[in-house]
Amino acid sequence: MTELTGKTIVLGVSGGIAAYKAAELTRLLIKAGARVHVVMTENGARFVTPTTFQALSGNPVWTEAWDERRANNMSHIDLTRAADALLIAPATANILAKLANGLADDLLSTLTLARDCPLLVAPAMNRQMWSNPATQRNVAQLKTDGVRIIGPDAGEQACGEVGEGRMSEPADIVEALISFLQLKPLAGKTVLMTAGPTYEPIDPVRGITNISSGKMGYALARALVHAGAQVQLVSGPVALAAPQGVERIGVQSAREMQQAVMLRVAQADIFIGVAAVADYRVANVAADKIKKTGDTLTLELTRNPDILAEVASLPAAPFCVGFAAESQNLDAYASGKLTAKRLKLVVGNLVQDGMGGDTNQVVLYDAEGAHPLPRASKTDVAAGIVAHLARMLG
Ligand code: CTP
Repeated sequence: MTELTGKTIVLGVSGGIAAYKAAELTRLLIKAGARVHVVMTENGARFVTPTTFQALSGNPVWTEAWDERRANNMSHIDLTRAADALLIAPATANILAKLANGLADDLLSTLTLARDCPLLVAPAMNRQMWSNPATQRNVAQLKTDGVRIIGPDAGEQACGEVGEGRMSEPADIVEALISFLQLKPLAGKTVLMTAGPTYEPIDPVRGITNISSGKMGYALARALVHAGAQVQLVSGPVALAAPQGVERIGVQSAREMQQAVMLRVAQADIFIGVAAVADYRVANVAADKIKKTGDTLTLELTRNPDILAEVASLPAAPFCVGFAAESQNLDAYASGKLTAKRLKLVVGNLVQDGMGGDTNQVVLYDAEGAHPLPRASKTDVAAGIVAHLARMLG
């Protein structure tokens, strides 16, 4: 199961150099499970041939309003009827101007006017064209008309100039589309969460940490954003980029994580502890690198604060969700944490099933009992957790 499975996307390609990126965009849409029908303007087809898009999408490409492949000659109507979204990428200044004014003088502009599905556009043009008041007026008009504008990015442009107007990267466009097509059951909710491992220093160059990759927490943060939540992610050291729309607060130790959480918890409706927080830290962190002297070395450890338990016991505690990674007796340990830490939901898994990897198998524990989710990618597991959370809150 991928995130655009069952979705049909009409991809409009207008005439800009960024049309070459639309080929990669098509590939990513297909990879995400979508059916893709490409419509190109005459100028779009000068930059990249329709054959490329036909090969990548596995479907015929449409360029002409008068196309006898449709017996009724109504491709401008038929193409968007079965579509979940019409995405125009790249969208030139010219097509934006036409759309803002309701012009219909070729297949792409005509089918856009005749569509009955949402429209998303990813502008791509020279920075002067983008900042021109005419373009800005057209973009403002399109926003008012309910069109979703993706990007553009700032940076180096094909013309050699540097500025705003470059088309967003294909992966970011797909991400925006996935998010756009999701229901928003958590709209208006603020979620504070922790993820990743913590790092407890021993001396300036050494520390104690664990094998948490942060992947589950980051996948969950992303799924929460897709469900409409505002997400603040307090993260230990991981090699992952913050998902689009997530505010990431980087920390190292458990105590730094605790401080970052307590500073923000009053504004949170939901708190989710995904982090693998070190239960103990070194009692006396050495100011200088420890030299090897004797045959043994003893480190004294002292208890770290339990961040989740502390949040859950606040007088005005948010809705608290915990994770329990166990190596045995999952049912007993995970449901035990539900009551011991006064949580509403615990996501339990066996460490051998999930930690560090790309898939996970989890069981959700709440007051009603245990709800196992099937083994799946962390992306799909995250979507399952969010769906359960939304049902509990709804
Ligand atoms: N947690 C936390 N702060 C800690 C330890 C854990 O916020 N110092 C959170 C984790 O993010 C997770 C949940 O508590 O959501 C369960 O963590 P775990 O370490 O498995 O539970 P413990 O209560 O520490 O139990 P034990 O280590 O004995 O299994």
